Amino acid sequence: MTTTPGDIENTTDTADTADTERAVCRRLVGRTAVVTGAGSGIGLASARRLAAEGAHVVCGDVDETRGKAAAEETGGLFVQVDVTDPEQVEALFRTAYETYGSVDVAFNNAGISPPDDDSILETGLEAWRRVQEVNLTSVYLCCKAALPHMRRQGKGSIINTASFVARMGAATSQISYTASKGGVLAMSRELGVQFAREGIRVNALCPGPVDTPLLRELFAEDPERAARRLVHIPAGRFARAEEIAAAVAFLASDDSSFVNATDFLVDGGISGAYVTPL
Ligand SMILES: NC(=O)c1ccc[n+]([C@@H]2O[C@H](COP(=O)([O-])OP(=O)(O)OC[C@H]3O[C@@H](n4cnc5c(N)ncnc54)[C@H](O)[C@@H]3O)[C@@H](O)[C@H]2O)c1
Repeated sequence: MTTTPGDIENTTDTADTADTERAVCRRLVGRTAVVTGAGSGIGLASARRLAAEGAHVVCGDVDETRGKAAAEETGGLFVQVDVTDPEQVEALFRTAYETYGSVDVAFNNAGISPPDDDSILETGLEAWRRVQEVNLTSVYLCCKAALPHMRRQGKGSIINTASFVARMGAATSQISYTASKGGVLAMSRELGVQFAREGIRVNALCPGPVDTPLLRELFAEDPERAARRLVHIPAGRFARAEEIAAAVAFLASDDSSFVNATDFLVDGGISGAYVTPL
């Protein structure tokens, strides 16, 4: 079957073996999407989803093995990149343009949340700076590198991964992480406003907690820690990475053509909740 942008076809969502057949739109045929942190978690699920919707996916990751595997699986291109390095980031977007002829989507998603970033009382300057570099400076660098391509084209969608903690406080603090995500949110809003009349949209994606292997392992060891968080989620569960990826695909596509400069929450209702169901 030949598909054109906007067609809907039934394909198997290979990203989630628990799901049966589901309709996947083909909204990104012919588009090029750069994904940082494509080797794992939200980035990997998004690379899969963007590819399923027809995009050429350029998988950027510092981890060669995982990044290569993601590119192989999605039929895309792997570029090894440390997102804190200006030249490597520049090369990532240049390679995408030289290989596929455009940079339509930049999903600036790579991020870290190391254990030595904790309460402000314990977090040292080195940990603070490391997290700011990887989570915030990297987004500045990626936007700076993507924008000239998008301005030349007169269109583009930039999606920067922030977090629901950019909007809500937590007593289980990771001080530099939270501050970095607040920065991502404010920067995305400003860029979305600045470049709106050039056909470029910039949104901050704010996921709630996602059910990752790491999180599962941590909570298996400490059920009280899991319960303390789960009680705040109206849905009573964490998100699946595929649910975040679906929002990324929406923001990447023309279906979100009037969605710009937002803090796009995908948090299962956490930020709207006062009392949750028993
Ligand atoms: N998992 C959650 O619950 C959650 C919730 C809200 C926001 N987020 C954010 O979503 C993003 C992805 O999180 P995830 O849970 O999928 O993480 P993950 O650890 O599963 O994946 C992150 C990927 O980024 C890569 N990476 C790390 N440092 C890098 C660097 N310097 N250069 C290039 N690549 C680098 C890693 O190799 C890895 O493949 C992060 O920005 C994170 O802060 C996560």
